[in-house]
Amino acid sequence: MIGVIGGSGIYEIDGLEDAQWVSVDTPWGAPSDYILTGSLAGVKMAFLPRHGRGHVHSPTEVPYRANIDALKRLGVTDVFSVSACGSFREEMAPGDFVIVDQFIDRTFAREKSFFGTGCVAHVSVAHPTCERLSDAAEAAARDAGVKVHRGGTYLCMEGPQFSSMAESKMYREQWGCDVIGMTNMPEAKLAREAELCYASVAMVTDYDSWHPEHGAVEITDIIATLQGNSANARELVRRLPGLLGKDGADCPHGCDKALEYAIMTAQE
Ligand code: ADE
Repeated sequence: MIGVIGGSGIYEIDGLEDAQWVSVDTPWGAPSDYILTGSLAGVKMAFLPRHGRGHVHSPTEVPYRANIDALKRLGVTDVFSVSACGSFREEMAPGDFVIVDQFIDRTFAREKSFFGTGCVAHVSVAHPTCERLSDAAEAAARDAGVKVHRGGTYLCMEGPQFSSMAESKMYREQWGCDVIGMTNMPEAKLAREAELCYASVAMVTDYDSWHPEHGAVEITDIIATLQGNSANARELVRRLPGLLGKDGADCPHGCDKALEYAIMTAQE
């Protein structure tokens, strides 16, 4: 089953059959919103608006654990994260999509694990995204006529304020980051702990604050770019079932077995 976590500007999936908003309860609390379930080209889909309909949860307040757990409970195996981002690269221009493959996690005010007292586990996030899903996201973006960049390092910041110019230049020049956003962490880490395949489609809305010919990031500019991006994102999502087919396949990269050697606590 394909799960889509939609970011700013993405609040629905087009063409879903048997569409139904369902409420899912989890031990981690309520997810960001009801989850839209249905099927697309015969493949079951679940869509969750990350910030809630009406954009009510800030990046810090998004209930990341409940979101991942709720998708898992519904039977999702493949999670596509769609989110807005700023760009540190001239060639990754507003309107382009980046299929992110690495993260630097600078968040500090979020619950980051399903594990803790009682059951301790350390999963590997050396390769935090799934190649199989990333291949599908790239192909879907190309089919949808979107300019797409394969691979990129995403700096996840806490927010909600945007970065200072000094931070922006440091992330770009010293740290080698390609894009910046506020939501992919701890989402990607939690997906790995939940043994879900995860791919991230980051939609460029701005050049953050490093670019000498672009001023500071303004939310009005982001919203204007998002309006174009969100139609492209919906086109991308529409193509995913055709590219991935019906579910049931094991992940060739082992995302679905991430816990096999990760649990430290003695089992009874
Ligand atoms: N989301 C979209 N643009 C962003 C930026 N420049 N920084 C952080 N998050 C963003």
